[in-house]
Amino acid sequence: MGFCNIILLLSIFGTLPLWIVLLNGYNYYYDYLSSQFEDDPLPVYDFIVVGAGSAGAAIANRLSRNNKVLLLEAGGDPIFPQRIPAFSGPLLHWPQHDWCYKTVPQKYACRGAPNNVSYWPRGKSLGGSSNLNFMLYVRGHPLDYDNWANITGDPSWKYENVLEYFKKSQDYHGIHQNNTKHHAQSAYGNLHIESRNIDDLPLVPEFLQAAKELGFENVDLNGPQKPGFDQFEYVQKKGYRFGTYSAFLNPIMGRKNIRISRYSHVTKIKLDRNNIAVGVWYTRHGVKRFARASKEIIISAGAVDSPKLLMLSGIGPSEHLKSVGVKPRVNLPVGQNLVDHVVTTLPSVIIDKPLTFDPMRDFGLDTIMEYAINGTGFLSLPGAVAAEGFISTENALIEGIKCIFWDVKIMSSGVMDTGSVIMGRPDDPKTVVDSKLRVLHTRGLRVADASIMPVIVNGNTNAPAIMIGEKAADIIRQYWSEQYLVCPQLSTYAFQRKFTQNKCFYSTISI
Ligand SMILES: Cc1cc2nc3c(=O)[nH]c(=O)nc-3n(C[C@H](O)[C@H](O)[C@H](O)COP(=O)(O)OP(=O)(O)OC[C@H]3O[C@@H](n4cnc5c(N)ncnc54)[C@H](O)[C@@H]3O)c2cc1C
Ligand SMILES: *[C@@H]1O[C@H](CO)[C@@H](O)[C@H](O)[C@H]1NC(C)=O
Ligand SMILES: *[C@@H]1O[C@H](CO)[C@@H](O)[C@H](O)[C@H]1NC(C)=O
Ligand SMILES: *[C@@H]1O[C@H](CO)[C@@H](O)[C@H](O)[C@H]1NC(C)=O
Ligand SMILES: *[C@@H]1O[C@H](CO)[C@@H](O)[C@H](O)[C@H]1NC(C)=O
Repeated sequence: MGFCNIILLLSIFGTLPLWIVLLNGYNYYYDYLSSQFEDDPLPVYDFIVVGAGSAGAAIANRLSRNNKVLLLEAGGDPIFPQRIPAFSGPLLHWPQHDWCYKTVPQKYACRGAPNNVSYWPRGKSLGGSSNLNFMLYVRGHPLDYDNWANITGDPSWKYENVLEYFKKSQDYHGIHQNNTKHHAQSAYGNLHIESRNIDDLPLVPEFLQAAKELGFENVDLNGPQKPGFDQFEYVQKKGYRFGTYSAFLNPIMGRKNIRISRYSHVTKIKLDRNNIAVGVWYTRHGVKRFARASKEIIISAGAVDSPKLLMLSGIGPSEHLKSVGVKPRVNLPVGQNLVDHVVTTLPSVIIDKPLTFDPMRDFGLDTIMEYAINGTGFLSLPGAVAAEGFISTENALIEGIKCIFWDVKIMSSGVMDTGSVIMGRPDDPKTVVDSKLRVLHTRGLRVADASIMPVIVNGNTNAPAIMIGEKAADIIRQYWSEQYLVCPQLSTYAFQRKFTQNKCFYSTISI
């Protein structure tokens, strides 16, 4: 390593926190202040989507093709440093773009963490948690979805049927391109997925070779998943993060049908006397506002905030709501089945041969040049995540740990929470939404995001959340394509004059 590289390394790493603070702060406050001068949203839209995260961004994109849509997001634009994968870790826990949730002290987990508390980072910007995540593209096992179909009694959730929604959002450029049954460069697909050249991934060839020696083949884990190992595929384009902001919102900024209202924090859903959701209250730059939806409201605020918003609106366990002073409207088990993946951290090893990454040895001007020109190298990797495997076992965690054989502490991952607004059969007491994602005992209200998973998938949750968004948009468009706007003329006579008024409503019957 030359002298110049040492100087560069010191100036970059030595001042890294300063750079992040400056870039973060400048980006955020400029965006926040300038958004004050944007017009306020109109009072009425066809659809209101709450939350522009993994699922919400996809829904808003698809619905606004031929409906008027208001997308309300509590955060602002994603900031530039978030696009560089190596910054994924350092950019967690910033209140400008992270809700910074923490769990209460846990009885049976998080023993290794201070106060037995787990951190739950959740994205707060256009793109939601897809701006914070590690960009791994993993769908989970086909049997996960077949199980959802069983639980809901709705075969449309079977893997062979949801596959079209995974493929619909895919712009696939990974190494399994010839597997066209499972991957697509779809005409609608904006989600750019790519793989790294395996020789650029330190130790991955050795890792895959070791797996082979244990009897696990090298397979495409996204289709169809069989026990085996593979290098990861990333939701990236040329080494830059490609969150749902880049995929679904940036391309439609000029679309007339959609109003993307940032810094708009939704506080309550308005239900009318008949439990029809008619609008939402939200706060934008300190002013409380109301927006009305003539067709539906879709809640995509994520596995923590979707149940919270329902409960603030009186939809949840009645006794609990009463105890905290919220007037109960619809008694449902909201927030009762929250499930997260367990994770465990292993000590990392740094080997004295140029196999793993050692910043003092490997970071230099060429690292930056390589990333700037080719989009590869250390800066394109979200930490040290490069390969994975799935094994078939009765007790995944124990076997997994045995498989790796280390002294471990078990934590809640804090990043893949699901199941807080569970989908199921309407007669099952656990159910909050039916298989068409409608909140039971209400009308015009659906929830579509990671919170509806009846059982957590065995992989990561970003691709499934986007799939849920795609499917929700299709369910909704299908439903409304069968409705007619009926406007019977109601006439009244007074003072020998006839007054005619149109009273419009939607119906499946055309008159
Ligand atoms: C650190 C981290 C790493 C991860 N790594 C991976 C990975 O590598 N691969 C993977 O597949 N998954 C990963 N995940 C999980 C995955 O990113 C999430 O499961 C997925 O993004 C959830 O999508 P969602 O649509 O349910 O919610 P989110 O994407 O969280 O979207 C919710 C949106 O709603 C907004 N919102 C919330 N409340 C309100 C309100 N009241 N008013 C207005 N807006 C509101 C939020 O600001 C947010 O933008 C990771 C997650 C984290 C946090
Ligand atoms: C954390 O959990 C352990 C084991 O149950 C317990 O001994 C300890 O007191 C807990 N710490 C806190 C701060 O709750
Ligand atoms: C779904 O139910 C069918 C019939 O009961 C059963 O054969 C099948 O194994 C179930 N599938 C899953 C994934 O649970
Ligand atoms: C794709 O190509 C690989 C090797 O190039 C081959 O092993 C595999 O069978 C092919 N898959 C399909 C679906 O054609
Ligand atoms: C970019 O990639 C090409 C082809 O792999 C390689 O020859 C070149 O050295 C790389 N450039 C940098 C700056 O790393």
